[in-house]
Amino acid sequence: MKKAVITGTGRFVPSHVISNEDLTRWMETSADWIHQRTGIDERHWVDPGDPVGASDLGLAASRVAMQRAGWTPEAIDLIIFATLSPDLNFPGSGCLLQHKLGLASTPALDIRQQCTGFIYGLATADAFIRSGQLQRVLLVGAEVHSTGLDISTAGRDVSVIFGDGAAAVCVEGVAADAPVGLLASVLHANGEMAESLMVEAPASRANPRITPRMMEERRHYPRMDGKAIFKQAVRLLPEVTLEVLAKAGMRLEDIDLIIPHQANMRINQLYQKALGVAEDKVFHNIQRYGNTTAASIPLALDEAFEMGIIGKGSTVLFSALGSGLTWGANIHRFA
Ligand code: ACO
Repeated sequence: MKKAVITGTGRFVPSHVISNEDLTRWMETSADWIHQRTGIDERHWVDPGDPVGASDLGLAASRVAMQRAGWTPEAIDLIIFATLSPDLNFPGSGCLLQHKLGLASTPALDIRQQCTGFIYGLATADAFIRSGQLQRVLLVGAEVHSTGLDISTAGRDVSVIFGDGAAAVCVEGVAADAPVGLLASVLHANGEMAESLMVEAPASRANPRITPRMMEERRHYPRMDGKAIFKQAVRLLPEVTLEVLAKAGMRLEDIDLIIPHQANMRINQLYQKALGVAEDKVFHNIQRYGNTTAASIPLALDEAFEMGIIGKGSTVLFSALGSGLTWGANIHRFA
């Protein structure tokens, strides 16, 4: 029997950098407000004149990850594509990425778990590998938020936090009793809070799915009850961290680095304090990227590798909470 192990990581962000100061041109806000309330200083947004979607950013990140893992596209048995900002309403971005990789029939699965996309994606890749159905999964998290944000003052609470970007990991099978690979995963959801963070239109529950009136009411832009989400995050992230540690039979001391989803620096500081771990045990890069949702954890993972903070043998804990609500955690040791 086998289980999943990550053998390559890669990231890609568009070159166009939007500083907090830049945002003040479009909305009533200040660089200080954004920095103090979120920890974000800048984010990358696609060039408004450049028609690129999540699959394009995902393709660039995948190429880096595959090169590091020594994979050609033909090696891929399954693509799992996590995004809340797909290129098209349907089909999924995984199919578009599959074609861009030059593949003809490799299966592609999109998942819609928002900020928890990577956590769910890794657990799903592991389940396919454990079942013996396949051996190599390309897991991609990619978002183009910027084309769907209300950058007027009305949308400022949401639009200042999101950034565009992508990251990918190559996941392979390794012997289930090996001391490396995915050691445990925990997944949760609570649909009761679905409307606390959502994009309402276009929607199948509306007929027609979108109207000029809905657009006037800005229902095609993300809407968030930031305080409600914040409260859930500071409660559930420590809880799910202890839950995944218990499942793996491990303690916080066994973890070399915690890579939480990058939604708000204050959430992650409160999380670190609640766990009682040293500041440098929790990784942050939200300052430079904002919230890149499904891309945020693998993007941080790729940077942590590049910075030499983790390497072969490191044990890393991933945790996230996002729209859905969805939340979860994984523990992974690198080979
Ligand atoms: N600039 C200036 N003022 C602003 C801005 C802005 N960009 N945004 C909001 N304000 C104002 C509000 O209008 C409000 O003014 P008022 O007091 O006069 O009404 C005041 O600032 C406080 O607003 P809050 O929304 O209460 O600000 P808060 O401190 O909660 O910060 C934030 C907002 C940053 C969004 C925070 O709530 C947060 O990070 N929430 C969690 C987000 C999250 O984790 N989301 C899940 C992941 S995302 C996903 O899954 C896709």
